[in-house]
Amino acid sequence: MDSARNPYTPNAGASPEIVVGRGEQTKAFRTLLGRLGAGRTHQSMVMVGLRGVGKTVLLNEFRDIAHQENWEVIEHEASKHDDSRFRQTMATLLRGALLRLSPRARWTDRGHRAASVITAFSVSMDQQGTWSLGWDVEPSEGLGDHGELGMDLSDALVAVGEAAQERQRGVAILIDEVQFLSARQLEALIQAIHKTVQRKLPITFVGAGLPQIAELAGDAKSYAERLFQFPTVDSLSPEDARTAITDPAAAESVQYDDDAVDLAVEITRGYPYFIQELGYQVWEIAEQNPISRDDVEQAREAYEAKLDSSFFRVRLDRATPLQSAYMRAMAELGPEPQKADAVARVLGRESSQVGPTRAELIDMGLLYTPEHGYAAFTVPDFDKYMLRAVPELLVPPIQKRKKRT
Ligand SMILES: Nc1ncnc2c1ncn2[C@@H]1O[C@H](COP(=O)(O)OP(=O)(O)O)[C@@H](O)[C@H]1O
Ligand SMILES: [Mg+2]
Repeated sequence: MDSARNPYTPNAGASPEIVVGRGEQTKAFRTLLGRLGAGRTHQSMVMVGLRGVGKTVLLNEFRDIAHQENWEVIEHEASKHDDSRFRQTMATLLRGALLRLSPRARWTDRGHRAASVITAFSVSMDQQGTWSLGWDVEPSEGLGDHGELGMDLSDALVAVGEAAQERQRGVAILIDEVQFLSARQLEALIQAIHKTVQRKLPITFVGAGLPQIAELAGDAKSYAERLFQFPTVDSLSPEDARTAITDPAAAESVQYDDDAVDLAVEITRGYPYFIQELGYQVWEIAEQNPISRDDVEQAREAYEAKLDSSFFRVRLDRATPLQSAYMRAMAELGPEPQKADAVARVLGRESSQVGPTRAELIDMGLLYTPEHGYAAFTVPDFDKYMLRAVPELLVPPIQKRKKRT
């Protein structure tokens, strides 16, 4: 088929031609905005799922829905930053949202107050005074300046929420890759949302990330369980997978034979990323309309090669020899979550010796802990890839570790 018309989107975060099978989540998000907008309270959500299932695409859908509902949107992809950098980022994003809610010249008392709380929030940890939010708004006193992240962020979100409410608008804070927030940063967000919910303000935080067990302690945990649901974003059902394969082609007036779709569903097992990659390769190879089972069979090799050289490989490329040996040992044991001591045994080491490597891999987002003592790959089928990419398990000799920072 004509490459220029290839309708598949095998790229991280690329919105597919049609977003299949996510009606439940988008409905829940509409309900959330509707209820908060009406001065009611509602549980927000943090969506969890493996790489490539469509979390970022869903957050993009939420952004569009929020805009349709006339809400302001703050979008952020979290990365590992210390608290003062986190403050700067949040302050910059909140400043932008406030200015979009109303231009400075039209600020009311609430607008002015929100601005000064944002300034106080942005500076209170920045002892060097080298960073400035870039607007000459005096910091408030007694709000946003306690020096404690959770309290300060609460003040900032309450102030921005009040400014939004006055304009009969709302603010949706959408944060991707939440697993990269530190426990303290996530707790601060939860604490802040706890405040805005108590005040029934139209401001909320919706997150997406890898399925870590929530490593939250104490109060933050009990707030989190009351304030958030943690819906799982997963592979598509067989029917939805069929639609995801056939609809983009149908929009270009290209059909699939039924048994071609059967095979495509079987190969991809409904994983959105895999569907897009296979669809893309099939389109490149097929010469006749409708697309046949033979076309899908022929595209399979290019599909697997492409996944290996991109989706999988970028992950392995970031790993040290010891880290990749760890993942290779896990793969040896199979696709299920694996116990730390079982992996250590395959490596011929003590659990305590390889514990730091495991922690690094979790930190990097390559592994997650579905339950205490276990680890699993964050990428579907990564175990099979490891067996292909590293045919023989080689354990590097023990070295003195450098101190971790
Ligand atoms: N509901 C869906 N239907 C079809 N394809 C999808 C769907 N959601 C995501 N995709 C595709 O799957 C791939 C991964 O999506 P992405 O949102 O980046 O996943 P994640 O953020 O969970 O890693 C992209 O190529 C995207 O086009
Ligand atoms: Mg993503």
